Amino acid sequence: MTRHVVARVSDIPPGGRLIADVAGRSIGIFNVDGRFYALRNSCPHQGGPLCRGRTVGLVTAERPGEIRYSREGEILRCPWHGWEFDLATGRSVFDPSRTRVKSYPVEVEELQAETYPVEIERDRVVVVLT
Ligand code: FES
Repeated sequence: MTRHVVARVSDIPPGGRLIADVAGRSIGIFNVDGRFYALRNSCPHQGGPLCRGRTVGLVTAERPGEIRYSREGEILRCPWHGWEFDLATGRSVFDPSRTRVKSYPVEVEELQAETYPVEIERDRVVVVLT
């Protein structure tokens, strides 16, 4: 596993996305209310640009007429033929056990300046590199 810095957090605001080339692969990185997900930008149906699709919610029905809408913004709909995928897992909504798109773990790192100990020796300031 290799790590790749793809963006600053501020480049992908909540509800936003960034499609980046990562080591020769087109990958969409999504921010859903501060949670980040990454999926391969290639639909398993016919190779459409999946990550250019709309993000929507999940529509379910326990019984006819009892429609429930949930998980707003967590489902990605392919722009070509409408297949839907869970951003968190890459699994399709209609056949989650067999149809999925590759998903990747995303980490948010805090940038931290490298610091070094400083000592005073008589009238000289000394930086200590270890
Ligand atoms: S290429 Fe994505 S649904 Fe057909």
